[in-house]
Amino acid sequence: MDRLSAHALPPPDGYFSAHQEIFKSLEEGYFLGYVPRNVALVCVGENPLSVAWHMPINKKPFLYGIAIAKENYSHTLIEEGKDFTINFLSFEFLEDMLIAGKYHGNQHEKWKLFKRIKPIKALKVNAYMVDTALLVYECKQERFLEFEDHSLIIGKVEAIHYRKGKLKPHKVKYPLHMGKGYFSKNSRVYIYKR
Ligand SMILES: Cc1cc2nc3c(=O)[nH]c(=O)nc-3n(C[C@H](O)[C@H](O)[C@H](O)COP(=O)(O)O)c2cc1C
Repeated sequence: MDRLSAHALPPPDGYFSAHQEIFKSLEEGYFLGYVPRNVALVCVGENPLSVAWHMPINKKPFLYGIAIAKENYSHTLIEEGKDFTINFLSFEFLEDMLIAGKYHGNQHEKWKLFKRIKPIKALKVNAYMVDTALLVYECKQERFLEFEDHSLIIGKVEAIHYRKGKLKPHKVKYPLHMGKGYFSKNSRVYIYKR
C-alpha cells in the first residue's frame, strides 16, 4: 500500500472516543508540558534577559528568531531597533540566567547583580555579548512580527563565535528549562547513525 492511500484510510472504530480517554484537552491558553527548552541569554543592545522561546529559521542567510514579551524592557529596546546577541551558556551559569530572567533592565543594573558573567562588546553589531558564552550569534533585526503579548523578532546572524572544543556533544551541558521553576541538563548523549 502506498503512503497516500494509507493516509486516506478512515480511523478505526472507537478512535475518537479512545482519543478522549487518553488525552486531556485545553480550550485556551498554552501548555508547555515540561518539554525542555535550552535557555539562552539574549542581550538587546546592552540589556540582558533570559529567553527560552527561540529557534533557527533559515540557513542562508542564517536567520534566528526570539519571542519577546511586550511587558519586558527588552521589547521597548527591540522597538527602538536595537541589535541583539544570542548567547548560549552552560548549565553552570544558570544562577546568572535566573537573575537575567527575573529583573527588568530599566529598574535594575543586572550586570552588577550577576555573580559570574560579564559583558564584552560584540564585533559586528551594536550590542553586548557574554564573556563566558560557548556560542554567540550576533544579530541585526530582519523582521519584527507583533502578536498579542509577544513579538517574534527574527535576526540576521552577522557573526558567530564559539569556543573551540567546548561544544562537543559529550561535553556540553545546557540549562534546559522545563517550565515553571524546573530545569534539567542533558546527561547522556546517544549517537544516531544515518
Ligand atoms: C528560564 C526563563 C526563560 C524565559 N524565557 C523568556 C522568553 O522566551 N521570552 C521573554 O520575553 N521572556 C522570557 N523570560 C522572562 C524574561 O527573561 C524576564 O521577564 C526578564 O526580567 C526581562 O528582562 P528585561 O525587562 O530587562 O527585558 C524567561 C525567564 C526565565 C527565567
